[in-house]
Amino acid sequence: MNSYQYLAKVYDQWEIMMGASFSMLMFPRLKEALEKINRSIRSMGDLACGTGTLAIAMAKTGVQVLGVDHSEGMLSQARAKAKKAGLSITFLQQDMRTFQLPEKVDLITSFYDSLNHLGTLEGLQQTFDAVANNLNPKGLFIFDVNNRNCFEKLWQGTSVFHHEEFTLILENTFNEKSLKAQSLTTLFHRRKEGIFFEKFTELCEERCYSDEEIYTALSSVGFQVLTKEDFNPFREITSIGPIKGFWVCEKGGP
Ligand SMILES: C[S@@+](CC[C@H](N)C(=O)[O-])C[C@H]1O[C@@H](n2cnc3c(N)ncnc32)[C@H](O)[C@@H]1O
Repeated sequence: MNSYQYLAKVYDQWEIMMGASFSMLMFPRLKEALEKINRSIRSMGDLACGTGTLAIAMAKTGVQVLGVDHSEGMLSQARAKAKKAGLSITFLQQDMRTFQLPEKVDLITSFYDSLNHLGTLEGLQQTFDAVANNLNPKGLFIFDVNNRNCFEKLWQGTSVFHHEEFTLILENTFNEKSLKAQSLTTLFHRRKEGIFFEKFTELCEERCYSDEEIYTALSSVGFQVLTKEDFNPFREITSIGPIKGFWVCEKGGP
């Protein structure tokens, strides 16, 4: 079962229903991180860019942006949004484990637990390797990952979102042994004309990694971790504690 093909149709509206676009929560945090280390960026790649919200926000600041995602559904939303905004952003359909940008960039980002989607340590390692290969010397890699607390507290039970145009049902489970969480997504989407709804189902799977696993995988391909902080971006649920790590890393070597 594919993921993010059908969800792509309602992804931006669903995020707004949850309170805010995650990319727009991360945008100020990203700018602050770059300011703290006094780095100006001319080019970047957004890995697992989804519907392109962060890519568009960064392109508006004058950065040359490339977006990579494996879901054609997400990418077609991203392309339409960039066109509407009058921005020239190249969006590439590639797998993050093996992606290759047309040229090396100063910064690679990956947000909204996209790296958790890899599902294995091997996949994480391959992705870090590909990130290092696509960065300029001293290039930055900035990302967030869900931690175990996130899956234990939030990936349990069923959530239902009702919108005039769709109903979205997420049935979430977390397996403590495999460290894998699953979200079975059922979308009832209103047809363009008429009163009928179409039903789509897809499965999204994530895995959590320990900080040690992430440090080891980063350092094995020459990344130095500049800062790592635990955080919770959602004001409504800060009481459950940090649910994510925010990592700022610099590529060493050539
Ligand atoms: C939760 S969404 C995040 C999208 C975007 N970064 C955001 O902040 O809204 C996860 C994204 O990861 C993408 N993705 C998952 N596995 C991938 C892979 N192996 N290669 C490329 N993209 C992948 C999905 O298609 C989806 O767009």
